[in-house]
Amino acid sequence: MTEWIEICALEEIPRQGTRKVKSGDAHIALFRTQEDEIFALADRCPHKGGPLSEGMVCGKHVTCALHSWNIGLADGKAAAPDVGETPTYPVKVDAGVVFIQL
Ligand code: FES
Repeated sequence: MTEWIEICALEEIPRQGTRKVKSGDAHIALFRTQEDEIFALADRCPHKGGPLSEGMVCGKHVTCALHSWNIGLADGKAAAPDVGETPTYPVKVDAGVVFIQL
């Protein structure tokens, strides 16, 4: 069973904002929506590898800062007509603390 890794307090991630996390070789971007949902994606755009953590959160997607592809926060998939997918990670919030599984 994969263990949950404590990352930070929910309040340390701004609403409609991001936080970068590095674990070993993994670069992960955490996203918080306006509704306080948290998502974790590889910090790598499926287009040309731009850092999604520098994108803009809108609803349940992030718009990449480099060429404006929209990536779904829940599934990591690029919105049509673009095609591509970024890995996602399980995430949970327990008592105001954010955890992820790698
Ligand atoms: S690298 Fe993200 S849209 Fe091009």
